[in-house]
Amino acid sequence: MAKCLVTRQLPGSALQRLRQEHEVEVWPQRTPPPAAVLRELASGCEGILATVSDAIDAELIAAAPRLRGIANYAVGVDNVDLQAAIASDIQVGNTPDVLTDSTADLTLALLLACARRLIEARAEVIEGRWQAWEPMSLLGLELRDSVLGIVGYGRIGRAVAERARGFGMRVIHSGRDMDGFAQLLSTADVLSLHCPLTPQTHHLIDAHALAKMKRGAILINTARGPIVDQEAVAEALRSGQLRAAGLDVTDPEPLPPDDPLLTAPNLLVLPHIGSATVTARERMADIAVDNLIAALAGGQMPHRVA
Ligand code: DGY
Repeated sequence: MAKCLVTRQLPGSALQRLRQEHEVEVWPQRTPPPAAVLRELASGCEGILATVSDAIDAELIAAAPRLRGIANYAVGVDNVDLQAAIASDIQVGNTPDVLTDSTADLTLALLLACARRLIEARAEVIEGRWQAWEPMSLLGLELRDSVLGIVGYGRIGRAVAERARGFGMRVIHSGRDMDGFAQLLSTADVLSLHCPLTPQTHHLIDAHALAKMKRGAILINTARGPIVDQEAVAEALRSGQLRAAGLDVTDPEPLPPDDPLLTAPNLLVLPHIGSATVTARERMADIAVDNLIAALAGGQMPHRVA
């Protein structure tokens, strides 16, 4: 029986399986353990099941000499220091595939809300500004024949493309190593981000990139907040360079309610809910537990990234 830390309560029955084989401590609060507490809790553990909001950094890894497996409850692993894990012979696993559809669906929800100005439209109704049916009011972007530019054409990028084609959009995408990125910027009516957060993609969408986009384009981000320079996005929304932006991810998370980004017009911000369906989150728990059980048994994680 190995000692495991699970940093948040999870949906479904996966944790029962983990408890049948190992001694499991689950962090009981809705907010993540503070860094020092996480380090202390992890120090005696052989396995950790972590979420995107837990920094599994080199300091934590150094403080946990018995650690053999880190099962990340996410497909992205930018919260884990992979080099430090590899150097300490610790396996790292993620939860791919099972959240592809939920994240692609949410991307389309943001895209439709931005293209058809749902936030402004709802505000008119709620604030009593809806005076009449007007031929010229709240005109949005027709999706058919519009160009969707996808940055990061992996599982989620492809699932978004499939859905967008169903709406008649013309899809273009960047290749590996970001070739074609400049053309995406200048051609897309909607730019949607699906690349991992790496040193290369940090602030990929900055003032320079935004200036190269078509005037009045829409930006969607369901990948990671720091891929976008939020100050530059706020400025582009104010100037009209961007028609609208739909962000499911921000930097930081949670975004404080007084963050200047939130004063920008035509902006829809969600609290990182791309994978938030019952089906996806339960399957993510199953895979994360499978990963941890395998590593603790001395085998390969079925979804190993490092
Ligand atoms: C992921 O899996 O990387 C998401 O951001 C959280 O589900």
